[in-house]
Amino acid sequence: MTTTESLFRVAVICGSTRSVRVGPQVTTFIHSTISNHLASPAKAGGEGTTHAKPAISLEIVDIAAFNLPLFDEVIIPQAVKDPSGYAHEHTRVWSAKIASYQAFVFVTPQYNWGIPASLKNAIDYLYNEWTAKPAMIVSYGGHGGGHAAGALKTVCQGLRMKVVENPVCLTFPDRQFRDSCLIGGDLALGEAGSAIWDKEKEDVVAGWDEMVRLLG
Ligand SMILES: Cc1cc2nc3c(=O)[nH]c(=O)nc-3n(C[C@H](O)[C@H](O)[C@H](O)COP(=O)(O)O)c2cc1C
Repeated sequence: MTTTESLFRVAVICGSTRSVRVGPQVTTFIHSTISNHLASPAKAGGEGTTHAKPAISLEIVDIAAFNLPLFDEVIIPQAVKDPSGYAHEHTRVWSAKIASYQAFVFVTPQYNWGIPASLKNAIDYLYNEWTAKPAMIVSYGGHGGGHAAGALKTVCQGLRMKVVENPVCLTFPDRQFRDSCLIGGDLALGEAGSAIWDKEKEDVVAGWDEMVRLLG
């Protein structure tokens, strides 16, 4: 039986916020891939382990839902030890949300070889809510978004997070798919008959298992 004390809460964060976007679809795909893995017998602790499955709740967090303005806090977040130290209610709401998780799966597109400003902005609002917690990075783009993944890894390391070594980089399979991404079209991810990123699901599971080990 799961107790509240032993439950690890993990957020799968959707990093894009533009008005037409595929971020929510990719985030749901990652969430489903991990959820299916968690539901598979005795696998969640990592291949070959005999450990009991840790009790985990996996939730999607969409940055867009928080309507964060460009960073407008007064005190550097690293110096804020209690949410009452934030000047703005939007920061306190975001802080409470992130503080409630023990680990994070960041799902980010690549924008001009970096991460979206929306994601960097949301990260910069906080510090102590992120620090020392495990993080796994998933990027997507024409060539997998490896530059964005690398940039985000550096940011997470700057926050002193425990970052999974290898990011998962999801490459758009063809031009039609890429064009669909640009207009936020339906990617049919995970639908019956769709084999998109089937192989990469193994990378997602491997990254996840490493992150679970980092949870301790
Ligand atoms: C501002 C901007 C910059 C982009 N830069 C890159 C890039 O450097 N490399 C790449 O592969 N795709 C790039 N793209 C294409 C995105 O990968 C693609 O549009 C994807 O759908 C973006 O994710 P989103 O729909 O969740 O916003 C860029 C898209 C935008 C909007």
